[in-house]
Amino acid sequence: MPLEDRYGRVATDLRVSLTDRCNLRCSYCMPAEGLDWLPGEEVLTDDEVVRLVDIGVRMLGIREVRFTGGEPLVRRGIVDIVRRTREVGPDLELSLTTNALGLSRTAGALKEAGLDRVNVSLDTVRRTTFEAITRRDRLADVLAGLAAAQEAGLTPVKVNAVLLRGTNDDQAAELLRWAVGEGYHLRFIEQMPLDAQHDWSRTAMVTAEEIFERLGAEFDLTPAAEPRGSAPAELFRVDGGPATVGVIASVTRPFCGDCDRVRLTADGQVRNCLFAREESDLRTAMRAGASDEEVAERWVIAMRGKRPGHGIDDPSFLQPDRPMSAIGG
Ligand code: GTP
Ligand code: 5AD
Ligand code: SF4
Repeated sequence: MPLEDRYGRVATDLRVSLTDRCNLRCSYCMPAEGLDWLPGEEVLTDDEVVRLVDIGVRMLGIREVRFTGGEPLVRRGIVDIVRRTREVGPDLELSLTTNALGLSRTAGALKEAGLDRVNVSLDTVRRTTFEAITRRDRLADVLAGLAAAQEAGLTPVKVNAVLLRGTNDDQAAELLRWAVGEGYHLRFIEQMPLDAQHDWSRTAMVTAEEIFERLGAEFDLTPAAEPRGSAPAELFRVDGGPATVGVIASVTRPFCGDCDRVRLTADGQVRNCLFAREESDLRTAMRAGASDEEVAERWVIAMRGKRPGHGIDDPSFLQPDRPMSAIGG
């Protein structure tokens, strides 16, 4: 039973949000005071997470699992969840998207539990800019987390950066120089209308084109030869290689036609798209005693409503109710 939508796209890449909480407060994501977090009883238990991953792998063709948040490392059982996921999916590609706070303590255990690699969110390597964006003075912890991930072999270590006009958009080349020097693979992401405050605006967003312009002033970028497949990032060789830089241009160059993703929220809802307007409640079904077959069937049905694209350019576009921090990116 593949997770196929009406446009022939098949989801094989499952992104599981383990919590909607976060220990940073990035201004483009959530307000300083945080958000109304999900009540504990609504969050999937470790057993429920592992059961859903198992159903995905055994019955629905899932080949890749990424844990996200909020910040997934704030979830106490994270190492155990990774270990049990590896047990149900020995061949899975298994990764984590994190802000790297606390990663210096857990990188080794995560690797040993079966995690393949990590993507780390970091928008600047300047302490003052970091504090201005995240509202926390924790740059040193993030850098230590990155180093620990590299050391533990959670590689390739990727770094995701969002550029914000007037805050860090003049630091693109500096970030790339740093990442190339450290051996991290940097990707720049266009900001999407998924912030909790609904402050996103097209004019404030730093576009892929602007990113190329800024990087082009210091580096020679040439399209990388590898086929892109369904990956959101377009890759470019930096000064002839071997280092590459990625650009994830979700807004100005959407890749929805090749989408192979499906998401589970921390409270057990299937989201067939980041921008989905409807969800399918697997948690309630599981807690009411649904069999694996029944859960799988609900999941398959949830994919049929997947829309062809995110629709950001439609005049009638409405931001989804759930913000990025509660979907997991
Ligand atoms: P890799 O397998 O390492 O390439 O992971 P990834 O880039 O898919 O995952 P990551 O969590 O690092 O996501 C990086 C950025 O891409 C985030 O800002 C995501 O929101 C964005 N992104 C990931 N998946 C999608 C998607 O399905 N649609 C859109 N529009 N953006 C996405
Ligand atoms: N648009 C694009 N990327 C975002 N991220 C958070 N909010 C947004 C947004 N509105 C990024 C984070 C992290 C990844 C999971 O998503 O910086 O790297
Ligand atoms: Fe897939 Fe939706 Fe992302 Fe487009 S916006 S790539 S359809 S998840």
